[in-house]
Amino acid sequence: MGATTDAGDASEPETVDVLVVGSGIAGCGAALAAARGGAEVLVLTKASRPDGASTDWAQGGISTTRGDPEALKRDILEASDGTADPAAVDVLVSHADDAVEDVLVDTLEIGFDEDPKTESGAFDYAREAAHSEPRILHVDASTGTHILRPFLHHLDSADGVEIRQDTAALELLTHEGRVHGVLSDESAEGHPIYAGTTILATGGVGALYSRSTNPPEATGDGIAMAALAGADVADLEYVQFHPTAYDDEEPFLLSEALRGEGALLRNADGERFMPDYHADAELAPRDVVARAVARERAETGQVVLDVSPLAFEAEFPDLAETCRERGIEGEEIPVAPCEHFLCGGIAVDDRGRTSLDRLYAVGECSRTGVHGANRLASTSLLEGLVWGLRAGEDAASRETEARVVDAPRLLDSDPALPARFAAEKAVRLERTMDEYLGLVRDPDEVARAGAVLRRLKGELDAYTRTRTSRDLYELRYATITGLLIARAASENPESAGCHYVVSEASDEELAGATADPL
Ligand code: SIN
Repeated sequence: MGATTDAGDASEPETVDVLVVGSGIAGCGAALAAARGGAEVLVLTKASRPDGASTDWAQGGISTTRGDPEALKRDILEASDGTADPAAVDVLVSHADDAVEDVLVDTLEIGFDEDPKTESGAFDYAREAAHSEPRILHVDASTGTHILRPFLHHLDSADGVEIRQDTAALELLTHEGRVHGVLSDESAEGHPIYAGTTILATGGVGALYSRSTNPPEATGDGIAMAALAGADVADLEYVQFHPTAYDDEEPFLLSEALRGEGALLRNADGERFMPDYHADAELAPRDVVARAVARERAETGQVVLDVSPLAFEAEFPDLAETCRERGIEGEEIPVAPCEHFLCGGIAVDDRGRTSLDRLYAVGECSRTGVHGANRLASTSLLEGLVWGLRAGEDAASRETEARVVDAPRLLDSDPALPARFAAEKAVRLERTMDEYLGLVRDPDEVARAGAVLRRLKGELDAYTRTRTSRDLYELRYATITGLLIARAASENPESAGCHYVVSEASDEELAGATADPL
């Protein structure tokens, strides 16, 4: 889009061994491992602050196996409705404790909460929904920020690593099926950065929905860029909604750790309803709880998270503070499901390698198979860390040299995307995702979503023939990722985990929705 191909720039091209796009835990893990492997690493991130990455927003914590990998594996498989890939889960559970110990405890010295009831130094392992035992390390309920900021600080002073903030990767540079880096937005024509290997760690898709627990930067860029370059994607229909976000246009997460400590869900009649839906009640898998909350809200008008069974203020001071700041009084907090995590993404193997040579993907933009149709709580930071380290190590060990190939040149950079144009398209995208690709999917509506999003992409394509900007790229990539989600949803008639299908669609509409979205 908005680009021509021209290799005729006389200035010295920028090259690097390993290019990491994204600066959450997965990107940081990849950068750390690649640097440890002797590679020169550049981390490119469009975020200008740590909270531009979803990691910084993570509350509950990071799961460990607590010495029993088989038990964690069982919980992951069960929460996924039996759809997670057992081989991928084996990779996760067998590397979990070493990765946490090495990077988070020994290298970054994260001050995970300790259990005041045991001898000094013992961790306070938390329990969350669908975990058969307490095994989650946390720092209050702001674990992500307590991990990410020291991680970025550590990389800032690490040999061989440069972090470049507020810099977006606009396109992948490809040649004969290989990926050779990215075109960044560091100059008006686009700035090519050539890399021996490129690792996408661009996060999820929260910005496609009107309510999300992700930062606004989560626009699905990496997924769209990889798909446009021909990489395989998988499981994109599995968009996870968190059951307990504050019921407001500006939601914030109320961690599952609250229910792990005894918080209860009640409907507008004050009734505790979860025991009617699942034997594990409030600790049922996330997709089950999210649908139950949505149904009770529809039937009774409101659902609240009752935190009176726990010492909310003492045990969750950061969440109690947020509630005060938002003017929430009392111990019953209104909640509603909210987009939280994409279980699928760019298809990768056990080292984060995509189907395209020299391209890796890690973290939420990737699909490792660990989550299947529904992710178990507190496994996203863990997956990002484990796969980030594995991908970074693998990329460095390949010693592939950066190769200078033809790079596109942006036609006409227009940094100020007209506000009304952008707002109108963004609202149409969000409304389509909310209404047709939310918690419950009707195949007719999924087909409609495909049609609306295809039209929207057409309008954005037409606009970008004459001008471009980072905002425009983001909007277009968000729309393409939405289309990929619609296609995946339309191709899967089976309900599983987060993909809950309610009725049959006509063949004609399904055929329309499955047309190639790109
Ligand atoms: C939470 O704290 O409830 C979120 C944890 C997660 O998404 O794994």
